[in-house]
Amino acid sequence: MRKKITIIGAGNVGATAAHWAMSRGLADVVLLDVVEGIPQGKALDLLQAGPVDSFSCSVTGSNDFADSAGSDVVIICAGLARKPGMSRDDLLAKNVSIVKSCAEQAAKHSPDSVLIVVTNPIDAMVYTAFKISGFPKNRVVGMAGVLDSARYRTFLAMALGVAPRDVNAMVMGVHGDNMLPLVRLANVTGVPVTDLLSAEELKEIVHRTQHGGAEIVGHLKTGSAFYTPGLAAIEMAEAILTDSKRVLPCAAYLEGEFGISGCFLGVPVVLGSGGVEKIIEFTLTDEEKEALAVSQKAVQGQMAATGL
Ligand code: 2OP
Repeated sequence: MRKKITIIGAGNVGATAAHWAMSRGLADVVLLDVVEGIPQGKALDLLQAGPVDSFSCSVTGSNDFADSAGSDVVIICAGLARKPGMSRDDLLAKNVSIVKSCAEQAAKHSPDSVLIVVTNPIDAMVYTAFKISGFPKNRVVGMAGVLDSARYRTFLAMALGVAPRDVNAMVMGVHGDNMLPLVRLANVTGVPVTDLLSAEELKEIVHRTQHGGAEIVGHLKTGSAFYTPGLAAIEMAEAILTDSKRVLPCAAYLEGEFGISGCFLGVPVVLGSGGVEKIIEFTLTDEEKEALAVSQKAVQGQMAATGL
């Protein structure tokens, strides 16, 4: 039997995630939204790509959570997106109530699923989904590290004139201005980027990565990024559905790892059928520890604002 993914929120990120899932032939997809007609129309449009793109999975648009029943993975994208001048934190008050109801419904209809949270501010929204769903920590995970690391890798590849896939680099911490793109460990097929780029060039790349989302909001003016956010969620879903044990940076619930407890923060994890099967802990430098502590503080502020 084919696997099933429910994507809650048929806006730009959700619909794009559905698109990537279908083009990979990953699973049957249910695209859910409260707005009547939007998920149905987008799903039908996507379904009609099947004969051309040779996928045979189904995609269904719905306004009814009952259609999501028995999903293996539920991706929560519902909520408001940023407009120019807004921080991700500005979205918190509105999105927390949306994510609460999504998590409640997901837990009711798909009690064995893994929840992937994409709604911003991600680190607080994944905490909200964790609290409301009652799921164990391994079955609730936030998307952002894959997106932020993809931006970091892209900018490094552009500066180096090399294929982006040969750049290995990771962003840890909060999905916000205080995220931590790790310079020390970034490399091109094993060659440290610190041997290939100047400190000044690397500083600029780190800064551009930290503000990668705002750069796109600034261009679009009416919303935020969606191609790579949608793909990042599907990359995580694929690792879970295929039990591939991919090592991806994701927002995971920490209980002592990296000296941090009681919050979700972007760290490298092993993703498999059990969700977050392991957090890969390693030794940070004092400077990196300090940067992660700043991230932690930012997330704790957001968590407090959820009132949970
Ligand atoms: C971004 O960074 C949507 O927060 C997301 O583009």
